[in-house]
Order: sequence, then C-alpha cells, then structure tokens
Amino acid sequence: MNDVVNILAIETSCDDTAAAVVQNNKVLSNIVSSQKIHELYGGVVPEVASREHDKLIVPVVRKALKNSGLRLNQINAVAYTRGPGLMGSLLVGTSFAKSLSLSLNVPLLDINHMHAHILSIFIDDGKDIPTFPFLALTVSGGHTQLVIVNSASDFNLIGTTLDDAAGEAFDKSGKLLGFEYPAGPKIDKIANDGDPNKFTFTKPNVAGLDFSFSGLKTNFKNFILSKDKSFIEDNLNDICASLQMTIIDVLIDKIKVASKRFKINQIVVCGGVSANSQLRSQLKALDDKEIKTYVPEIQYSTDNAAMIGICGYYKFLDSNYGNLKDQSIAKYPLS
Ligand code: KG4
Ligand code: ZN
Repeated sequence: MNDVVNILAIETSCDDTAAAVVQNNKVLSNIVSSQKIHELYGGVVPEVASREHDKLIVPVVRKALKNSGLRLNQINAVAYTRGPGLMGSLLVGTSFAKSLSLSLNVPLLDINHMHAHILSIFIDDGKDIPTFPFLALTVSGGHTQLVIVNSASDFNLIGTTLDDAAGEAFDKSGKLLGFEYPAGPKIDKIANDGDPNKFTFTKPNVAGLDFSFSGLKTNFKNFILSKDKSFIEDNLNDICASLQMTIIDVLIDKIKVASKRFKINQIVVCGGVSANSQLRSQLKALDDKEIKTYVPEIQYSTDNAAMIGICGYYKFLDSNYGNLKDQSIAKYPLS
C-alpha cells in the first residue's frame, strides 16, 4: 500500500457544498460553499439544496483540486458522505463521487457524516489529539449524540436527543428573534455582550445520557411572545446569553455524567455547535487532571469535506480497502 494516500472528499449532506483533498491526516485543500439562498426561507429547503449542490459541485471540486496542487491522476480514492442527511442533497454528492471514482478507477469510500465529525479531531494541524478510547459529544444542526469511540471504526452510541438537536435549539430560538438561518453564530456573537444569568429558561431534566431541547424551545417561545418588541430589543444581548448558557449547561452536565459513568476522561466535542465560543471556553475550564477536552479547529467544526477525507483515510487504511491490490471499482459498495 502507498505510504502517501491522497483522498478527494465530497460532502453534500445538507446546505453546504464542500470538497477537500487530504494527504493522509493532512488537509491540502478545503472548500466549503454555503448556500445562502436558504436565508430567504428561514431554514433549509431540501429541494432547493439539491439543485444548488448540482450547480456548485463541479466548481467546488475543481477549486479543491486546484488548491491542493495535485492532479486527478494523483488521487488514490474518492470519499463521500453516504448519510445521514437530506436524500436529494446526498444523491448529488453520491452520484458525483461514484462517477469520479469509476472514471479514475480508484476506490470509492462511503462515509458516515457523524463519524466524520468525530474523526475531524485527527486532522493534523498541530493540536493535541486524543487516544482511544475517548468520549465524543457531537452537536450539530440535526444531531446531538454521545458516543464512546473505541477505534476509528468502532463507535458506540450511548446518548442521543429525544427531540430537537442542540443546533436546532439555537436555530429555532434565533428564528423567533428574527435571525436568519443558521442562527447559532449570530446568537454566539450577540451573547458575548450579555449577562447569562439575567433570565432563567427551562433546563430539560432527562435522566441518563439522552437529551431533550423541545421544552426549552417552548419555554423560550412563550417568553418571547409575552414580551413587547422594545423589551426584546433592549435586552437582546442578555436574552441570547441566557439562552446560550442554558443549552451549554445541559451539554456540559451530560459530558460530566458520561465521563464519570464510563470512566473515560478524554472528551471530544465536535459538530457545528462546537464552534460556539462560550462552549469552547466552558470546555477549557473543565480541563484539569480529571478531564481533558478536545475540539476541532472552527473550520472543521461546521460541515466540511476535510473531515470526510480524514474519515476516508482511516477507512482506506482498513484492510477491506487499503490492502487490496486490485482496486477495481467493482469491489467497492456502489449501491
Ligand atoms: O455540523 P453542522 O455544520 O451541520 C449539521 O451537520 O447539521 O451544524 C450546524 C449547526 C447549526 O444549527 C448552527 O446554528 C450551529 O451548528 N452553529 C452554532 C455555531 N456555529 C454553527 N451554534 C452555536 N454557536 C456557533 N458559533
Ligand atoms: Zn454536520
């Protein structure tokens, strides 16, 4: 097997059209084109997202390849997001990746988006990385999951949301405040100048390691509806800071419970919400002799194809892929 593995990766699971080239654990290029059109609708419109992917996939892949400095004939495998995600959006990336791998006659690597978020922590950019086993909290727009990661291919789900995801709690609350989708980054920014203890919102009390954010959503909605416009405007920073702190408290509490229960002290927090500045500083504050936390660089927290490439690299190293001498495409899962 080659010592150097170049993987072209494609991610189209939701509203970001992304392509990257990775060389082993290193990222050579990472292009993300976020579809702005959904801001008009206050959320992602699946049919619109697939059509946008269809328009963007070729220029985005071209740019990723150009920025990597490699040529197509140096690509050893094509990795793509198989799921979870929006069916129409996934199909665009899947068809493109399959066609490309067939034409290059290189392996096609189907990647689970949630696993890729977790393995994004292994992108080699000079930061500390955890050793197996570790605990991962994946907080994105569609998922909130606690996972024990025993190896790059062994993931054990130990907790998940019963309703809304943490990212949805940000996005839906932000929508009530009139913010465009996705509202998480804006709430993060506005909360910076606010008092997180000014207002108290319902903190879900779910036993065990599962999560629930729908009660908070209802409580926040009722709060907003009970106030007039000028009150909300005058207190916007404090409202955002208090909401954000409620969500973060839930996440931090669950991390502590899981870490204690499974006696695992290395915690990776990944997915879009891990870009949140307050969550990052709260995690840093957790770090002591007992717990060590890890977060990906911000550009690898939110959806990107570099994480698909890294996940692909681990899959390629797996004997089912990398050790095969005959890399004919017929040997790889095409359906
Ligand atoms: O992982 P991701 O990019 O896409 C999915 O797989 O869903 O996560 C997107 C989510 C959105 O809900 C967005 O509001 C949230 O991540 N997000 C943030 C921040 N940046 C993105 N939430 C809070 N603070 C942020 N800075
Ligand atoms: Zn994601």
